[in-house]
Amino acid sequence: MSQPAAPAPTVSPDEVRRAVDDVRLWYHTIELPHGVASPGWFDLRPILDRMPWPDVRGKRCLDVGTWDGHLAFEMERRGASEVVAIDIPDHSMWDIPIRGRKAVSGTLDAMVGEKASGFQTAHRLLGSAVDRRTISVYDLDPAELGTFDVVVCGSLLLHLRDPVRALEAIRSVTAGVLLNTDLMRVGTTLLHPRTPVTRLDGDPNLVQWWHSNAAAHRKMLETAGFDVVRSVRPYAIPYGDGHPPDRGLRDRVNATIRRALLGNDGVPHTAFLARPAAL
Ligand SMILES: C[S@@+](CC[C@H](N)C(=O)[O-])C[C@H]1O[C@@H](n2cnc3c(N)ncnc32)[C@H](O)[C@@H]1O
Repeated sequence: MSQPAAPAPTVSPDEVRRAVDDVRLWYHTIELPHGVASPGWFDLRPILDRMPWPDVRGKRCLDVGTWDGHLAFEMERRGASEVVAIDIPDHSMWDIPIRGRKAVSGTLDAMVGEKASGFQTAHRLLGSAVDRRTISVYDLDPAELGTFDVVVCGSLLLHLRDPVRALEAIRSVTAGVLLNTDLMRVGTTLLHPRTPVTRLDGDPNLVQWWHSNAAAHRKMLETAGFDVVRSVRPYAIPYGDGHPPDRGLRDRVNATIRRALLGNDGVPHTAFLARPAAL
């Protein structure tokens, strides 16, 4: 069992700012001491309460695909007794489509730098006790990690060649519930509210595979042996201050549609709370 989070270390505002600047790319906007927020590509803060959280107080929790760790730190903040967070060791371990395999991990290395640097910086500045391990989701094994009361997996399935195999591995370590979020295609969700529809994206640069509608997200969970117990209204994960501007005409039109349908601009998502079905 890990210890409860230590009190935040005494660091000066300058030290916090320097530590934040030393991270080449922040994926998450994370609130750090002295009112400093990391300049993330994505800012989960406004949508955290739109996710179907279970009560994590006193629970053993796992965050799958943690990147800078925002969801892991959030579970710690909400009172989890222990939080383990997993991610791949480096960019070569993404499920990169074969056409990008030679080039893309080098591009990501140059753009992002060391995979764990944002997590380690936030972990230190927050005085966190989250236990980060380098394990692929496909290799989750209860014999190694034990089982968890709560598992959270955010925005990972779209990046995996085999999302159902990954969900089966997650199921093997889920004793309680899984909170799974994934990108949602708005058009196919509106056109096919009850039919699972997934578009194969195959973009090697962004390592994107499956763009699902809400019904396909649910169906993947069911196919992997989960029963959905709660769903929420779709939401959009807002871009953070570090996100590159991408404001072509098409993007601006889509942003207007997203604002009208989901309340704000960002990447449309669905989230489900699920438990392992009795098989
Ligand atoms: C799009 S980010 C999502 C980050 C965070 N979970 C969230 O919801 O904001 C996907 C994360 O999954 C990680 N990842 C990719 N392939 C993985 C794998 N096979 N096993 C575990 N994590 C993986 C990536 O390194 C990255 O940190």
